[in-house]
Amino acid sequence: MSTPEAKMAGITRRMISAKAEQFTESVIREMTRLALKHNAVNLSQGFPDFAAPQEVKEAARQAISDDINQYAITWGAKPLRDAIVEKFERTQNVHYDPEREITICCGSTEAMMSAMMAVINPGDEVVVFEPFYENYGPDAILSGASPRFVRMQPPSAQNPDWSFDHEALAAAFGPNTKAIILNTPNNPTGKVFTRAELEFIGELCVRWNCYCITDEIYEHILYDGTEHISMAQLDGMRDRTIVINGMSKTYSVTGWRVGWALAPPEPTQAIRKVHDFLTVGAAAPLQQAGASPLHSPQSYYHGLAATYSEKRARLMKILEAAGFTVYRPRGAYYIMTSISHFHFPFDDPRFASETKDVAFAKYLVEEIGVACVPGSSFYNDPQDGASQVRFTFCKKPETLAAAEARFAKLRT
Ligand SMILES: Cc1ncc(COP(=O)(O)O)c(C=O)c1O
Repeated sequence: MSTPEAKMAGITRRMISAKAEQFTESVIREMTRLALKHNAVNLSQGFPDFAAPQEVKEAARQAISDDINQYAITWGAKPLRDAIVEKFERTQNVHYDPEREITICCGSTEAMMSAMMAVINPGDEVVVFEPFYENYGPDAILSGASPRFVRMQPPSAQNPDWSFDHEALAAAFGPNTKAIILNTPNNPTGKVFTRAELEFIGELCVRWNCYCITDEIYEHILYDGTEHISMAQLDGMRDRTIVINGMSKTYSVTGWRVGWALAPPEPTQAIRKVHDFLTVGAAAPLQQAGASPLHSPQSYYHGLAATYSEKRARLMKILEAAGFTVYRPRGAYYIMTSISHFHFPFDDPRFASETKDVAFAKYLVEEIGVACVPGSSFYNDPQDGASQVRFTFCKKPETLAAAEARFAKLRT
């Protein structure tokens, strides 16, 4: 605090860091708080409202009974590191050394932050596809990166599946590019990058000698025959890729906070240092428990995708009936929609200072009783997302049915 003495002495000191001032609280997490406040059906934040698999929960109980209650080694419990490496090799055919090329973190959120702080210098540029998962904005600010955004266009007859302009992407790279941040399957769009798209991106990374930091947290949530391809398996890319992933979405345990970064030894050394001083480590019993689900048979992952495929169909139908233009996701568990057909009273003075999507989301949570995420939170310039909102379908059938009932009150 600035004391009267300090003021008299003419000392003015910024009490909040310039970095922290540059971003707001997470809109996604705020929508969950509003959903609780208004007793609304929460289709905003991407956490399952159903139970995690029985064996996963049993493994956690067992780990505590076995007295795994002290710090794990800072870069991660050995059984979990081994299990992750084994699974990545089995599914992506790329080997990592569990002793030198993996760091277990507090969720993939911390893995992404630690990776960026480990490789970015102030002034380095990072290329980010837009719309983007909202954390990447603050991640860039906190690590000192300057983001260069490349737009993915909403699907249309000419432009399926949120495609991007290849020339615009190439133009975003340059001598100051340190990394591109990729997220496939993608939140919020549901886009699953194709091999051809990944090869194009990979060639740019090689040409400009930069990293690809790839967030693969939805790797098993795929529809319509799409395939998840990790950038790490492309020619020339293993040693310039940092793979970010975690247990949250695949095993329905978002609250466990167990994630990881796979990377070559040199960046891993730096990631481990940042991680150690940020958090020391994720919860030791949950790391220990995490190893066994990673050995699940292929049928588990097929079952997961099949369950989400049904939920996707259900929510798409509900949203279409309610008047939204729905962009069909090919992966992950979100549906981006256009609200441009709605004419609800945007001139309501309560929402006068808001962009249309924020006004709509507040109206929806307060008056209709359903929470979504305003599109602007996925864009650098809020106006660019002002006609979109995002819903999630990682919810029980009863939750989706409750949303359907509430939408009966919504008029276009
Ligand atoms: C793209 C993406 N990455 C990371 C996360 C957070 O993952 P974790 O729970 O592992 O921190 C989310 C959560 O919604 C996400 O959508």
